[in-house]
Amino acid sequence: MSTALITGASAGIGASYARRLAARGYDLVLVARSTGKLEALAADLRASHSVAVEVLTADLTNATALKAVEDRLRSGGPVDLLINNAGDSLPGTFATAKPDDLDWLIQLNVTVPTLLASAALAGMLERGEGSIVNIGSVVGLVPEYFPGIYAATKSYILSFSQGLAAEVGPKGIYVQAVLPAATRTAIWDRSGVDVASLQNVMEVDDLVDAALVGFDLKEGVTIPPLADAALWNAFETARRALPPSFANAVPAERYRTKA
Ligand SMILES: NC(=O)c1ccc[n+]([C@@H]2O[C@H](COP(=O)([O-])OP(=O)(O)OC[C@H]3O[C@@H](n4cnc5c(N)ncnc54)[C@H](OP(=O)(O)O)[C@@H]3O)[C@@H](O)[C@H]2O)c1
Repeated sequence: MSTALITGASAGIGASYARRLAARGYDLVLVARSTGKLEALAADLRASHSVAVEVLTADLTNATALKAVEDRLRSGGPVDLLINNAGDSLPGTFATAKPDDLDWLIQLNVTVPTLLASAALAGMLERGEGSIVNIGSVVGLVPEYFPGIYAATKSYILSFSQGLAAEVGPKGIYVQAVLPAATRTAIWDRSGVDVASLQNVMEVDDLVDAALVGFDLKEGVTIPPLADAALWNAFETARRALPPSFANAVPAERYRTKA
């Protein structure tokens, strides 16, 4: 029996992952701040799927609480699948954001998934298998379209996932970055954007079902709304064509100063 730890499991995408993974027979560790919601979901999943479900209440931006989740990953029962899903956004722009709020968002969207992946990886490497799923966003590819630093935190998730996959993929660890576009969850209530004003909003279970198709295919990057996969392949081909041109001991002609 495999065990999955899901952060942000009390609502939205994380709760949908919990339901889908329980249906696949995974035992679960559910992490979020809302104990009542986690306990209710856990009771439902134990009853409907006969799986073991632990609840770990944690504000992941609190150092002590984060350490407890890291400890669960390092020294509790083996966790075969980490779903790094907890995340949030900030209303307003970079210019209007308070420094403490910027720091908080970087903690939640960047530092937390990084440290949890680090904690989970130790046991996975020992066992020679395991999976880490990081929930990014399509806005990480098009940061010009989204004010503030949310998009930059999601660019990190993509970059982190691709780098980690290159490092640990050959050692049997599968890393997937999932890049949703607009998905109908409560995150929009806090973002300052009225989800009703958006077109083409995906339902959360459709998003997670698609992400799990990508998981089963062992895709490195899964973009559920992207109809034309050739667009992503062309983007990746162009990106991967760059490195040979970086090997240059002298500045490119256009940057050379006149003697
Ligand atoms: N919805 C979209 O359109 C969309 C698009 C692209 C990417 N995403 C990403 O998808 C992920 C999930 O978001 P969602 O849309 O499902 O939002 P959501 O419905 O608001 O769920 C967010 C989850 O994260 C948990 N969480 C938030 N802050 C936390 C903290 N400090 N400590 C622990 N848990 C915390 C929340 O639980 P508690 O409140 O109980 O702590 C909740 O379970 C995020 O990483 C988000 O950036 C969403």
